[in-house]
Amino acid sequence: MKCHKTRLFVLFVALTTILLLNTNISAQNTVTKTEIINGANLIDMQGNIVNAHGGGFIKVGKYYYWIGENRRKGVFVSCYRSTDLINWEFRGDLLTRLSHKELDKANIERPKVIYNEKTRQFVMWMHYEYGPDYRYARAAVATSSDIEKPFTYLKSFRPFNNMARDCGLFKDENGSAYFFAAARENYDMILYQLTDDYLDVKEQIITLWPGGHREAPALVKRGNYYFMITSGCTGWAPNQAKYAFSKLIAGPWSDLKEIANATTYESQSTYILPIEGEKTTSYLYIGDRWDGKQYFNSSYIFLPLDFKNDSTMELNWVDKIQPDVKTGEIKQITNRYQ
Ligand code: DGJ
Repeated sequence: MKCHKTRLFVLFVALTTILLLNTNISAQNTVTKTEIINGANLIDMQGNIVNAHGGGFIKVGKYYYWIGENRRKGVFVSCYRSTDLINWEFRGDLLTRLSHKELDKANIERPKVIYNEKTRQFVMWMHYEYGPDYRYARAAVATSSDIEKPFTYLKSFRPFNNMARDCGLFKDENGSAYFFAAARENYDMILYQLTDDYLDVKEQIITLWPGGHREAPALVKRGNYYFMITSGCTGWAPNQAKYAFSKLIAGPWSDLKEIANATTYESQSTYILPIEGEKTTSYLYIGDRWDGKQYFNSSYIFLPLDFKNDSTMELNWVDKIQPDVKTGEIKQITNRYQ
């Protein structure tokens, strides 16, 4: 009888310990963060490193979605979501090597997603390569009716026979959508208007800064001006970002103006995210801090863009930020570079 009680007691202690340990583990993994630390490894709510490089953002309902390059285990594009832009939850893989036969040996970079109200489809545009180098230089398109579910890969092609490498996607207030990509061995940045279903290019609109040799384009509209941030072309090594502005998307665009420091705080642009709140709209620069030798050591920086007037942009370093999605404000914490 005594022996039975002892066994029951041991079993009870063992079960309680397992329960407590599990609670701790899940508590650790779901620890709510309160700030973004720029350049640090970004850990998702499941406890894993966020793999969403060269990515884009889209707001759907109460969630901000972050869709970017994963590159682990045959995955090309992954999806994360957040209600506060600080805590990111992994939601699944949207494109993998198995999604289509064209993807078996592909390299997918800089995926971006917009929503088409008429077709009720999320449409992804990206830079497509096949094999180890960058000579295919094509754009590719995929769609899905659910942002969190695998996308259907449609095709890769060269828009109007132009090369298409580093690229971006922008949906204007009136629903017109634009794809822009580095062409002519990266010497030109070409802007295309998309067809109404967003699945193809309708018109080649303008070649921005011909011969300018720009990469990593990110386009946003603020007030009466469109802004585009781009990087120079130095492979995975960071360089001086520049921006330009225009009242019309088709131009004339201003000359390129330097922004941030000579290495753009060791980053390369990928997206400009407007945070529309009750008080204000802020604009967040999102850049990749590539580690060209060990891709998976790459990290991210999220920095508020400052506008001194309608057409002047500044990008200053801050160690940490606290975006407030309700008010639209971004709290900036410390300033080590100044
Ligand atoms: C810089 C680009 O911006 C990246 O997307 C990637 O293509 C690397 N170059 C490859 O060197």
